Amino acid sequence: MQSYRIASIPGDGIGNEVIPAGIEILQALAAKEAFHIAFENFDWGSERYKRTGAYIPDGGLEKLKSFDAIFFGAVGAPDVPDHVSLWGLRLPICQGFDQYANVRPSRVLPGVKSPLLGAQGTRAHDIDWVIIRENSEGEYSGSGGRVHKGLPEEIATETSVFTRAGVERIHRFAFELARERPRKLLTLVTKSNAQRHGMVLWDEIFYEVAKRYPDVKTDRILVDAMTTRMVLKPASLDTIVASNLHADILSDLAAALSGSLGIAPTANLNPERKFPSMFEPIHGSAFDITGKGVANPIATFWTAAMMLEHLGEPKAAARLMTAIERTTAEQVFTPDLGGVHDTRAVTNAVKRAL
Ligand code: NAI
Ligand code: MG
Repeated sequence: MQSYRIASIPGDGIGNEVIPAGIEILQALAAKEAFHIAFENFDWGSERYKRTGAYIPDGGLEKLKSFDAIFFGAVGAPDVPDHVSLWGLRLPICQGFDQYANVRPSRVLPGVKSPLLGAQGTRAHDIDWVIIRENSEGEYSGSGGRVHKGLPEEIATETSVFTRAGVERIHRFAFELARERPRKLLTLVTKSNAQRHGMVLWDEIFYEVAKRYPDVKTDRILVDAMTTRMVLKPASLDTIVASNLHADILSDLAAALSGSLGIAPTANLNPERKFPSMFEPIHGSAFDITGKGVANPIATFWTAAMMLEHLGEPKAAARLMTAIERTTAEQVFTPDLGGVHDTRAVTNAVKRAL
């Protein structure tokens, strides 16, 4: 029997509610599909940071390397600055394991109402996008610094870094993914009018790579115009490639347009498989609903389906997606989708549908 070792890191807030629900679903599915998943839980989160001064203990990343994949919740606590928590846990894993391709699908699931529905004649199936986010450099490279702290001449720099190698590999990944989708349409998001160095390189390399993919149609749009296009002409988009910052913002918009942040999944991939990839819902730790038991687990379940796909279990992944879609079609919804159900009830419904 095929067997997988998964590191689970629920992290903070609702991560501790949705990741256990995801593990429950994956175990139920494994039993039905006859494969085995062994989860090892890691208590890496803000509680640990406050107790010991570190999110990741010494040797932690080394230990994580031996797993087949990482199943991650969220990190962030009200009493820890967000840049400390993000750079303490999530980014060391993404950067340390060279998970440079961040894949973010969004689609209006059956039964879910997009806020765009009916506006300008928009239909549910008009939103069926995959945003590919460059996940290793760009605006979140971590390059920069702060000097003369507290003085009137204080300086802070936050340097966007675009390397030929980094840009080329993400565009290649995006073309490959676009080619696999029926419409074979790839949109380049840029801001090369204002950012005339890094983003110009970003555009140039896109068109160099495009020559190798004559079957993929391309277009290019400035990021500000992209926000209006997503709202007004959703059907004109399919696969989208954007820099770290741009895709971060656009994918939250995509999640909201497809119904809720509570349904949106993501995969942080190391496509060469030199390191484990990491799978997480795109939402954060959601302080406002933590402990209430109403976090929507659908994003985590969809994330789990992406993880199964990556592990080489496409049949189990498809079975899980079908169960998710049956549950949404019956509108077994948490409050973020306008429902009255809690995390437990949605988990039970998906389990039954499996
Ligand atoms: P958030 O995603 O935690 O919450 C935004 C809004 O969406 C809140 O109203 C929340 O209740 C709602 N929401 C999010 N997930 C939901 C779910 N599964 N079901 C129902 N409603 C859901 O973003 P926010 O408030 O900006 O950040 C809170 C903390 O999370 C911060 O510390 C932030 O740094 C961190 N964060 C961490 C991320 C990660 O670990 N990947 C990603 C985004 C934020
Ligand atoms: Mg984000």
